[in-house]
Amino acid sequence: MVLFRVAVLVGFLTATVTAVDITVQASGGNKTSRIPYGLMHEDINNAGDGGIYAELIRNRAFQGSSRYPVSLAGWSSINGAALSVKKLAEPLSSALPSSLNVAVGNSAKNGSAGSVIGFKNDGFWGIDVRVQNYTGSFYVRGSYNGTFTASLSSALTNETFGSVSIQSKSKKDEWVQHEFTLVPETAAANSNNSFALQFDSKGVEGGSLDFNVISLFPPTYKGRKNGLRLDIAEAFEALNPKFLRFPGGNALEGPDLANPWKWDETIGELKNRPGRPGVWGYQTSDGLGLVEYLHWCDDMKLEPILAVWSGLALDGAYINESSLQPWIDDALAEIEFIRGASSTPYGSLRASLGYPEPWKLQYVEIGNEDWLAGAPAGYDSYRQYRFPLFKEAIEQKYPDIQIIASPSVFDNMTIPSPAAGDYHPYRQPNDYYAEFAKFDKLTPDNLTLVGEFAAVHPNGGLDWDAGLHPFPWWIGGVGEAIFMIATERAGDRIIGSTYAPILRNMNRWQWSVCMLEFDASKTTLSTSYHVFKLISTHPITSNLPTTPSTNTSSLFFVAGRNEDTGTHIFKAANYNTTQHEDTPVKVGFEGVEEGRKAQLTLLTGSEGPFGYNDPKTGNNAVKETIDVLVANEEGVFEWVMPELSVAVLEVSGNEGKDEVV
Ligand SMILES: *[C@@H]1O[C@H](CO)[C@@H](O)[C@H](O)[C@H]1NC(C)=O
Ligand SMILES: *[C@@H]1O[C@H](CO)[C@@H](O)[C@H](O)[C@H]1NC(C)=O
Ligand SMILES: *[C@@H]1O[C@H](CO)[C@@H](O)[C@H](O)[C@H]1NC(C)=O
Ligand SMILES: *[C@@H]1O[C@H](CO)[C@@H](O)[C@H](O)[C@H]1NC(C)=O
Ligand SMILES: *[C@@H]1O[C@H](CO)[C@@H](O)[C@H](O)[C@H]1NC(C)=O
Ligand SMILES: *[C@@H]1O[C@H](CO)[C@@H](O)[C@H](O)[C@H]1NC(C)=O
Ligand SMILES: *[C@@H]1O[C@H](CO)[C@@H](O)[C@H](O)[C@H]1NC(C)=O
Ligand SMILES: *[C@@H]1O[C@H](CO)[C@@H](O)[C@H](O)[C@H]1NC(C)=O
Ligand SMILES: *[C@@H]1O[C@H](CO)[C@@H](O)[C@H](O)[C@H]1NC(C)=O
Ligand SMILES: *[C@@H]1O[C@H](CO)[C@@H](O)[C@H](O)[C@H]1NC(C)=O
Ligand SMILES: *[C@@H]1O[C@H](CO)[C@@H](O)[C@H](O)[C@H]1NC(C)=O
Repeated sequence: MVLFRVAVLVGFLTATVTAVDITVQASGGNKTSRIPYGLMHEDINNAGDGGIYAELIRNRAFQGSSRYPVSLAGWSSINGAALSVKKLAEPLSSALPSSLNVAVGNSAKNGSAGSVIGFKNDGFWGIDVRVQNYTGSFYVRGSYNGTFTASLSSALTNETFGSVSIQSKSKKDEWVQHEFTLVPETAAANSNNSFALQFDSKGVEGGSLDFNVISLFPPTYKGRKNGLRLDIAEAFEALNPKFLRFPGGNALEGPDLANPWKWDETIGELKNRPGRPGVWGYQTSDGLGLVEYLHWCDDMKLEPILAVWSGLALDGAYINESSLQPWIDDALAEIEFIRGASSTPYGSLRASLGYPEPWKLQYVEIGNEDWLAGAPAGYDSYRQYRFPLFKEAIEQKYPDIQIIASPSVFDNMTIPSPAAGDYHPYRQPNDYYAEFAKFDKLTPDNLTLVGEFAAVHPNGGLDWDAGLHPFPWWIGGVGEAIFMIATERAGDRIIGSTYAPILRNMNRWQWSVCMLEFDASKTTLSTSYHVFKLISTHPITSNLPTTPSTNTSSLFFVAGRNEDTGTHIFKAANYNTTQHEDTPVKVGFEGVEEGRKAQLTLLTGSEGPFGYNDPKTGNNAVKETIDVLVANEEGVFEWVMPELSVAVLEVSGNEGKDEVV
């Protein structure tokens, strides 16, 4: 909910409560990171497949593993066609040994409606059908004279929203790719829809056809082929993110030593990607692979923070020192693939895939949470040889790369400067409140990325033993705002921060507290999303000292300037007050004179501390008000912050004296 209004000043201030009176100095602060907020992505909660990766067809390539065997999941027969998964002597590729065999069943050979047969896919818990261009393709092997019909229809009523005929170019002993564009004539009322591919069994020679990589994409973010789901990507773009940490997370580590995230199995044509057993209970397609992550960075103007596998699996097993070198070489090869000249071996592999220009890569993280799985022995191996050996090799070849260790200085690891650490505080809201001064301890040498954070446990609970909150909730968001303000105050030492996980498919998820929830057709922005957005869309490029320098009550704040826009910025979060009273705030900026205008954006929890945004009801428990404030004769802005509220004040630049920012 957004309310715009022009404020009547001070008249309504409660006289009995003393205002928090803050002066922001004109100079004397520190430059802050240019990438203060970003995104972190891995395939959890069907965040990738069935999530931001826009592919609509589930199990499109019959990928599987010993953990998640190959199956017909998602597929069903039309008109008696007999479906089976086959391992052909001549598969589509060595990466994809299994494919779909569609045999002309008895019932289909005859009868009036009978000769047209096929198969359908119910998508990732449905398919969103609108009047727009869907881009599809499939490989077929076998002799078929006739046309294929691709269509989108209701799984409930069978109503067909659109279809397209595709002339067969199939051949007996060859895999032939077919491409098509499907434009529905009408939109579906809900997402209970399926995609079908049908053909006339009378034109089939040999009794069956084989299919693989059956794919359908809606329009994607920035029109990228094999790209991102538009509504989800645009919701992230609106956060003004500056970096992307990928590919995990636990997904990087993999379930066991045989199955880490292998960058070279995620590149090239889709038919050359085997997929892998993910660590969150399902097989992943790797359609969202290394190049797609880099395209995501290109299209959203994000700095890539690449995590390379450090030799630790999620089951706690780790690589011995004598066996580590091949994995160090693998990380160097991955980095070369990304940023090496096209004359280098892996740079030329990149060029051969159609990307002659190197990408920019300045941040490489070695592993993920190496302090956790396999500790203490696994963590000891990280400190003793895994981290030092990876670091040395990468630094030697790429001295300009900022190396990041996967633990932080708060995880009992000494991190040799100029390497940075990675801090993952999943917390109770009260912890963020209590730990506000935590980063004061950091020296300029203790550079830290906050590669994951989120309020996940209810206050007073038993942390991990008590489980996670069912959704992000308002007081959690206020706690996160306090934390974000703390990171900004240390903006010269904190590389950047990102909430995690960012996505949750409401149909299958493993982690309940996520920034954004979605199903096949809609997204829900959590309370934490709104808080993150307010704070991240008003970047400070240089902090300014304040008097008082820190909280004197429940009000936590940071101040600074944005040197790109010439504005002054003040961000504040108000936690529990003594008796639930409002907190009057006065903020004066040295050098900002009477009459200057500022925009105040205030977030409050319209459903109290435990309010949350429910995908079922579509409510918004965050109330946003935007006011225009005018500096009084002392150059001071005054407003009131209710208990549990978050605010950003942005003062227009000198040149814009009469303009509202
Ligand atoms: C096949 O269809 C013909 C008419 O089209 C019918 O006479 C015949 O009985 C059908 N055979 C079977 C096995 O259904
Ligand atoms: C489909 O794409 C074509 C070509 O880009 C475009 O002209 C047309 O407007 C699109 N149709 C819809 C429904 O978006
Ligand atoms: C839809 O088609 C299927 C056959 O594909 C049939 O079994 C089902 O009864 C049909 N449903 C409706 C509502 O017509
Ligand atoms: C149809 O889809 C909606 C979401 O669009 C879902 O809530 C509902 O449960 C589905 N209905 C059936 C009968 O599957
Ligand atoms: C398909 O067409 C080819 C020639 O174009 C012919 O040799 C073949 O017999 C046809 N097959 C069927 C099943 O009609
Ligand atoms: C590491 O070495 C130990 C003993 O030296 C051995 O038991 C273990 O299997 C080795 N681990 C791996 C992953 O090679
Ligand atoms: C920190 O690391 C040292 C050395 O490995 C170990 O002795 C100590 O128990 C660790 N402390 C914690 C809190 O993990
Ligand atoms: C933090 O930086 C200081 C140097 O400024 C260094 O001595 C110290 O070891 C670092 N702390 C950790 C835990 O790495
Ligand atoms: C500037 O950074 C130093 C440490 O690097 C810190 O002590 C100081 O508080 C910072 N100043 C501001 C205004 O953030
Ligand atoms: C400032 O916040 C801390 C929690 O981070 C709290 O313990 C302290 O009492 C607050 N200071 C004042 C003066 O209220
Ligand atoms: C703040 O209030 C909430 C209830 O709204 C409570 O759960 C929490 O413990 C309080 N925190 C502090 C630090 O007083």
